[in-house]
Amino acid sequence: MRIDIITLFPEMCRCALLESIIGRAVKSGAVTLEFHQLRDYAFDKHKRVDDTPYGGGMGMVLKAEPIALCFEDICSKLGLRPHFVYMSPQGRVLNQQILKDTAEKYDNICILCGHYEGIDERVLEELVDEEISIGDYVLTGGELAACVYADSLCRMVPGVLSDEECFTEESHYNGLLEYPQYTKPSVWRGREVPQVLLSGHHKNIEEWRRMQSIIRTREKRPDMYKIAKISEFEIE
Ligand SMILES: C[S@@+](CC[C@H](N)C(=O)[O-])C[C@H]1O[C@@H](n2cnc3c(N)ncnc32)[C@H](O)[C@@H]1O
Repeated sequence: MRIDIITLFPEMCRCALLESIIGRAVKSGAVTLEFHQLRDYAFDKHKRVDDTPYGGGMGMVLKAEPIALCFEDICSKLGLRPHFVYMSPQGRVLNQQILKDTAEKYDNICILCGHYEGIDERVLEELVDEEISIGDYVLTGGELAACVYADSLCRMVPGVLSDEECFTEESHYNGLLEYPQYTKPSVWRGREVPQVLLSGHHKNIEEWRRMQSIIRTREKRPDMYKIAKISEFEIE
């Protein structure tokens, strides 16, 4: 998978995404991340990427032309048109199913980060394929949202996570929250690790984990529990 990010603050995205697991995946070539400075595409005499909103009101709006020029430059360098996503509080709220579908469907994604009051609406009409929100609240810019989106997409690409870090047992992947995790020591401040995890009995451990997943989903996320795939036997 290749992800291109268009932003006024490429360093913010670089810092967040080129560390740890995703950073290793970039080094190994499992994913490619490219960061594009929107200002490099402001070719008017004042090199402006934003301007005041028509109709008045507060703040500044990102101009259409630099965004279009940057996206078109990415398309021509790639020799294809990536799926173009605008990070926006007005978009579909991100969840694991959207990530799964997107990772399966697209090898090339371009993410646009807005700033100030947002972007000229005509960019959405002319170029953007999809708007994605990371939650019902407003950030100052799209960079943090883009990092959340890119990180959670990249970790689903084969080869990014090692077997031990596999995402298919994690919270949300199968509609349940993950079971509780423990590590050494087996007793910490008088609290013991559940005996079954020390037993070495794989089938019992698997059953215990499945039950814990169901129980904690019911406790912490009743909305997810209501629609989770759980057998009659497990409910009993
Ligand atoms: C201050 S916001 C603009 C909000 C816009 N005026 C509105 O009310 O819909 C600036 C930028 O941050 C990003 N942003 C803010 N909240 C977001 C969210 N929940 N999810 C994704 N991106 C968000 C978008 O790229 C947006 O263009």
